[in-house]
Amino acid sequence: MDPNQVLIFDTTLRDGEQSPGISLNTSEKLEIAHQLARLGVDIIEAGFPIASPGDFEAVREIARQVDGPVIAGLARANATDIETAWEAVRDSARPRIHTFVSTSDIHIEHQMQNSREDVKGLARAAVAQARELCEDVEFSPMDATRADVDFTAEVCQIAIDEGATTVNIPDTVGYTMPAEFTRYIERLYEVAPGLRDITLSVHCHDDLGLAVANSFAGVLAGARQVECAINGIGERAGNASLEEIVMLIRTRAADLDGLYTDVKTTELSRTSRLVSRLTGYAVQPNKAVVGRNAFAHESGIHQDGVLKERTTFEIMDATTVGLETNQIVLGKHSGRHALKQALEELGYRVDGQALNTAFKRFKEIADRKKQVTAMDLEALMTDELREETGFNLVSFELSDATGRAPFAAVEVEGPDGAVSRGEYEGDGPVDSIFKAANAATGIDASLREFRVDAVTEGQDALGEVNVVIELGGEISSGQAVSTDILEAAASAYVRALTLASRKSEEGAARKPRPEDTEHVPEATP
Ligand code: KIV
Ligand code: ZN
Repeated sequence: MDPNQVLIFDTTLRDGEQSPGISLNTSEKLEIAHQLARLGVDIIEAGFPIASPGDFEAVREIARQVDGPVIAGLARANATDIETAWEAVRDSARPRIHTFVSTSDIHIEHQMQNSREDVKGLARAAVAQARELCEDVEFSPMDATRADVDFTAEVCQIAIDEGATTVNIPDTVGYTMPAEFTRYIERLYEVAPGLRDITLSVHCHDDLGLAVANSFAGVLAGARQVECAINGIGERAGNASLEEIVMLIRTRAADLDGLYTDVKTTELSRTSRLVSRLTGYAVQPNKAVVGRNAFAHESGIHQDGVLKERTTFEIMDATTVGLETNQIVLGKHSGRHALKQALEELGYRVDGQALNTAFKRFKEIADRKKQVTAMDLEALMTDELREETGFNLVSFELSDATGRAPFAAVEVEGPDGAVSRGEYEGDGPVDSIFKAANAATGIDASLREFRVDAVTEGQDALGEVNVVIELGGEISSGQAVSTDILEAAASAYVRALTLASRKSEEGAARKPRPEDTEHVPEATP
């Protein structure tokens, strides 16, 4: 491997998917994985296969269908997790098993309730087993930055001796600071010299807002893999944001002695929008690199400067991160062929029935909105390609006779194909539609969040609605786009109901998370 290349390990579909309220189905995960491959990430951590049959299936499909990057599956340090991860990734051309065990005393004593000796045995057995199955094995000492560095180094050396090809140092709770992390890594190299023969990786959480800074410190100290997620999503405050670490390395390349990544930065904005849309996690307007305002200039002095010479107030060019994709691509009279071609340019291959449906949606939009942009098509396709296996909105009607609260009637098709109707007279049109949808589906969910964004600028912009609902303490979200905000709201709400009912069917069978230690019996040393 080129010593100057920093590998980008994307964990949007694993650590990112562990964010509260996010629950992607297999086709959504596949869509994100294909886009990550287009973006040029080196490794996709596709999921945690032991967590549920759905997670297993998604990882297996990504391993089978997504070419280019290494496809990794996460496994705790026990035999069942490792076998399951291997079954999920084995069909990839480039499979990886990523196994981990905590090395901090806090985790060892309180969470795992075993001893440092046990941890050494678990790491040894896990990596040995994984290496028998797969040539590419990554090992992580979880909560490393709160652990004794010399003990962590000892465990890392055991993993290397057993054949780990990557060792990843996680700042699991986002606790470390850049200079401290540098010293930590320097000490690891001293105590575990084998780290020089494998790829050292870093995985930093953002609890104190330092995930990117700490990851960067890790790179300067010798790490050549960074684990990160699109839009920085992940457990609690999230992971290091992929777009920020990539653009930092690119923008400051001249000062970094040749360090580089293989990421195609012009795909960053689009990937960010796709992930935001499918997860329901909005990107804050002032988010570095991909926020709506990341390249906007409000003050007169700044605007004046940029008009005269862009670099007066801009250190990156919007085109480098793919922000200038809003050129008009199609008009009202564009035909099926033009649509197909435009979609292909955007990376969508649609034929037959899918093309007919996309064309119908396109015509509806083009009738109301004279100019259809690349960003509109992107939003439409994400909306259209969703796999609907639950409730589907059939129709909605609103009447608000003067002086009365709006009255809504909603028809929903259930998973069995039967259509049911619900009616409600609520506090306003949105409230009435949502409660009528509850009545139609028989699900008594409550609304937690309701957000409307415009896909592009202008009065005729497509509206994108995001709703978050709660049912039995579980949070679910739904998104939809339309030129009619109420229609988008109704569709988004019905999608959220589908997810909520799926979750409540799965019931108390909560997905295990990487930090869970129950069901880990076999892998005793
Ligand atoms: O944050 C963490 O420690 C993790 C590990 C599973 C790598 O996500
Ligand atoms: Zn993590």
